[in-house]
Amino acid sequence: MANDWDGWSTSAGAWIRSMAEQGDWTRRHVVDHPTQAACSPLPGELWLDVGCGEGRFCRWLADRGAIVTGLDPVGELLQHATTLGGATYVLGEGSQLPFRDAAFDGVVSYLSLIDIPDFRTAILEAARVLKPGGKFVVANLTSFATTIPHPRRRDEEGNFLFMAVDRYLEERAEWVEWADIRVRNWHRPLAAYMQAFLTAGLALESFDEPSADPAVPGGEDYNRAPWGLVMVWRKPA
Ligand SMILES: C[S@@+](CC[C@H](N)C(=O)[O-])C[C@H]1O[C@@H](n2cnc3c(N)ncnc32)[C@H](O)[C@@H]1O
Repeated sequence: MANDWDGWSTSAGAWIRSMAEQGDWTRRHVVDHPTQAACSPLPGELWLDVGCGEGRFCRWLADRGAIVTGLDPVGELLQHATTLGGATYVLGEGSQLPFRDAAFDGVVSYLSLIDIPDFRTAILEAARVLKPGGKFVVANLTSFATTIPHPRRRDEEGNFLFMAVDRYLEERAEWVEWADIRVRNWHRPLAAYMQAFLTAGLALESFDEPSADPAVPGGEDYNRAPWGLVMVWRKPA
């Protein structure tokens, strides 16, 4: 295979099955709602979803009347997205966006920055293609959740104990596997991400570490050591 995009091409079928139309547990119970609220697209606005995968979030934006472009380097995921519609799907990489400057009202990266090797250039690129005054909405994994693959430790009965953290300050990639998916995710300390957004000239407008409903199975454990964050960065007008 010429380029497996760190496992995403090989894992595309399993990823599509794991997402279905509702998304996985984290998306359904934690990250979807605040990311959607952060985007709040207006009808007719131009939105770009970087690392759109099989296009579920593009379809959500399009259902609100936005005119959506979804970008991903994995053709297998975009083929599926195209059959379901909602956006113009473009094969490409986050660190080399094939769009002109100031082309979009909004850019979203929904749990994709951890998958992009050159995240600093990808953030510069997102800022470049935003119109002045436009916003970059980022849902990402918290950095203390990405230092070790599968960091949640459980006892023999399966009860959640704690989240393991190690070598926090070292940027590096690790292979992670679950449900027939095997991909390489990047760990970076939170400071590395924040400095990259600031270097791109963006201004932080909101930052959230959303909780799960404790009544949902798994919600209480999630809230003890959460792994999702949502932030909005604004390009100065
Ligand atoms: C965890 S999935 C998230 C997909 C989608 N945003 C969602 O929330 O369902 C990460 C996505 O990043 C994509 N990706 C991997 N390398 C990338 C790169 N260099 N530039 C942009 N996207 C990339 C993968 O193909 C995959 O679709």
